[in-house]
Formats: sequence, C-alpha cells, structure tokens
Amino acid sequence: MNNNPIGIFDSGIGGLTVTKEIVKQLPDESIIYIGDTARVPYGTRSKEIITRFAKELTNFLLKRNVKCLVVACNTVSSVALEEIKKISPVPVLGVVESTIQLAIKTTKNRKIGVIGTVGTINSKTYDKKIHEINPKIEVDSIPCPLFVPIAEEGLETHQATKLLAEGYLKGLKKRQIDTLILGCTHYPLLSKIIQAVMGRKVSLVDSAKPTAQSLRKILEEKRLLSNKKPRYEFYVTDAPERVLQVASRFFGKILNGKLQQITLPTL
Ligand code: DGL
Repeated sequence: MNNNPIGIFDSGIGGLTVTKEIVKQLPDESIIYIGDTARVPYGTRSKEIITRFAKELTNFLLKRNVKCLVVACNTVSSVALEEIKKISPVPVLGVVESTIQLAIKTTKNRKIGVIGTVGTINSKTYDKKIHEINPKIEVDSIPCPLFVPIAEEGLETHQATKLLAEGYLKGLKKRQIDTLILGCTHYPLLSKIIQAVMGRKVSLVDSAKPTAQSLRKILEEKRLLSNKKPRYEFYVTDAPERVLQVASRFFGKILNGKLQQITLPTL
C-alpha cells in the first residue's frame, strides 16, 4: 500500500485525456497534475529544450512525493523518456509503449498509421518501437501540428477542420492502414472527424486507456495501490482562467476549485 499521489505531467492540458481515464480506472488514487501552459506547445521544439522542460516538471512532482510518474505527453514520451527515467527514483510510465501494444493487437493487415506532433513523428519512436516488437508491420507516420490548436479552440466540428483532416490524412488513406494511432494528447478530442475521414474500417487507438491499464498493472505489481480517499491537485504555469474554460468543455468540472498557477524553478 502507498497512499502518496500519482504525478502526471503534460506540456499543457491535453494530458487530461489520459488523467480522466486514470481517474476512471483507478478511482482510489490521488493525483497531482501539472501542465506547462506557459510553454506549450512542446511539439515543435528541439529535443534539448523538451528534455529540459520535462526535467523541470519531473522535479516539481518528485518534490511533492509522488509514488510514480506518468508522462501523459506523447512528445515528451517520444523524445525525453529515458532522460526522465535517469533522474527519477520512482517508476516512470510514458504513453508510447502501451499504445503501441494495443495497436499491434488491433491491426489485422499489419499496416499501422501514426499521427502526432512534429517532435513525436520526427523522433521515429513509434516506428522504432513497433518494429522492435514486429519488424513485419508497415508503419506510416505523419505530423498533424494544427490539430492541437484546433482542439483547444473547440473547432472540432468546423468545416475547416474537415478540410485540414482530409489534407493531413490523404497519404495514410492511400496506404490502406487498418489501425491509426492518435499519438498526441489532443487528438482524441478530434476522433469523430478523424474517424469520418479515415472511414469506419480503420480502428483508432489512443493513449488514454492503455496507459491507465499499464499504470494499474505497475501499481499492483509494485504494491503501490492506495486505500485512502483520493485528493486531486492541478497546476498550470500560465493562464488558469483559459485552462478552466477549455478544460470544462472536454472534462466537465474535474478541475473546479483544484487548479492553481505556479512558477516552475528553471534548470
Ligand atoms: N501534449 C502534446 C503531445 O501529446 C501536444 C501539445 C504540444 O505540442 O505540446 O504531443
């Protein structure tokens, strides 16, 4: 038993898609979440900068005695996970591996597509890790950077979003993938339009469920599950009012009364 909180971080509020599922699957667990809204997006930045920012977020959570760390951001999980593991005395879980395992289980024709930020796609982490498990699977990945602001602006049903999605996904459609990994925290918020463009035969796989399942497994194996009433704390580094506004559209009242703005000590 361990009643310390789970630490979750993301470049912004997109990681709440993963957090929501963790709350659902592990309702007795306390959570401290931090989103670096002052410096989002990470997806267009260099590996060096992403790694430094990610270490700062890690230190923030470690100081609050978290019992494990969930890197809810696909970009950080793709480019900086090993560096975070090096400085963390507690278990670290990214979102890539469990998502890949689900995608591999899902594909029948062994053709998987991956969409994500520029940082995630350029890192080739998804491609490499899929091929480590099964080199015969064809992987096609493309960046869809504008999906992030579109989700944040609440434009998921806008006509422009459909056109953009058609443009971004055209290449993947031609490759006849049967499984598409939504390799970015924000993309599940656009899943309806992505599904409509890709067609019903393509299965969409995102990180929320498989990550929450892996987390449960880790907590069980390491005997870290909690048996106390949960507490939730949410932190952002800028613009809490906007965060509340955007988050309430997607996540209901989960943040109400629990959101604070902080300044991160820089490395
Ligand atoms: N959280 C990021 C991800 O999942 C998306 C937003 C960003 O670019 O920082 O890749």
